[in-house]
Amino acid sequence: MRAIVYRQSGETDVLQLVERPEPVPSAGEVLIRIAVSGVNPTDWKSRRGARPGEPLMFEEVVPNQDGAGTVVAVGEGVDTSRIGQRVWIWESAYQRADGTAQEMIAIPEVQAVQLPDFASWDLGASLGIPALTAHRCLTVHERTRDGLHRSALEGFSVLVAGGAGAVGHAAIQLARWAGATVITTVSSREKELLAIAAGAHHVVNYRKANPAKVIRSIATKGVDIVVEVAPRANATLNQAILGRDSVVAIYASDGDALSIPIRPSMGENLRYQFVMVYTVPQEAKSRAVADVQAALMDGALPVGDEVGLPLHHFSLEQTAEAHKAVESHAVGKVLIDISR
Ligand SMILES: NC(=O)c1ccc[n+]([C@@H]2O[C@H](COP(=O)([O-])OP(=O)(O)OC[C@H]3O[C@@H](n4cnc5c(N)ncnc54)[C@H](OP(=O)(O)O)[C@@H]3O)[C@@H](O)[C@H]2O)c1
Repeated sequence: MRAIVYRQSGETDVLQLVERPEPVPSAGEVLIRIAVSGVNPTDWKSRRGARPGEPLMFEEVVPNQDGAGTVVAVGEGVDTSRIGQRVWIWESAYQRADGTAQEMIAIPEVQAVQLPDFASWDLGASLGIPALTAHRCLTVHERTRDGLHRSALEGFSVLVAGGAGAVGHAAIQLARWAGATVITTVSSREKELLAIAAGAHHVVNYRKANPAKVIRSIATKGVDIVVEVAPRANATLNQAILGRDSVVAIYASDGDALSIPIRPSMGENLRYQFVMVYTVPQEAKSRAVADVQAALMDGALPVGDEVGLPLHHFSLEQTAEAHKAVESHAVGKVLIDISR
């Protein structure tokens, strides 16, 4: 079978297309024929490494965490009725050598979740990292720790920074599904239209005059949850729009350090919660997968131009181009077609 591999960290020229034997599922695993592999920033960051020449954890690595495909065989202990099931895959390459940029993958069965017939391969391959990250951000508030469901966020206002991003898009959809009033910030008219299509109630261009004033006029008691992609750039804005018990859930880094005023933050019982999708507590991760699945089954997580997440398709041979597209901030979702 065909696979993309790298044997050293570095730029996209370390990626090679090779032939490998088909994997055999071990006990507790399913073997999946991958239809579409989803690309996220974590995939090129892992490939490049934190510094030049950083050694890899494995001799040979197949990139990409997310994907979708069909179960074609199962290992010992796995119900054989799963054979033939369409699935979406999460975190396939976390502390493993085997990502989704290949024709077949063997993976623990819990990391392959049923994809309903109405959901496209593109949708299945877009869920993993963005949806699980967004879920964690929305469930670190004191009153949302039990997870998300259709009315979990009723009465909440949520500010999604960067609503045209992949995580931002998933956060808008999940927050909207869970009943929140959703406000989002964007940098352009093009992204404003995408965020509206995604379902945001209010879209604010943060490059235009006084976004804090606009957001305060919508969330008069303050925003309950901020899903934050740029904590440094938005530090002053956030302080101006938070209310009692608000949470800023930070999932990305735009610098080394963040300065937060102590007294005003203390006065409002604010919480700054950092989020790393791979290392969230196991119980929270399991809940995230279950809640994302419930939202998926409700039809709440569609993808595509018309719902604010343009799709960019590449072939397996073009994996390097797909990584470059994500690295250069392609607007929307980058996908690799493997077998449809
Ligand atoms: N911690 C985790 O577990 C985790 C999980 C997933 C992703 N991430 C990280 O999160 C980042 C985003 O991932 P992604 O896949 O969503 O990327 P993406 O699709 O490129 O989206 C990033 C978005 O952030 C927006 N943005 C940048 N600066 C902003 C600001 N000051 N205010 C508001 N929006 C701003 C960008 O638009 P404009 O520049 O036009 O505003 C863009 O829409 C990446 O660095 C990724 O590595 C971390």
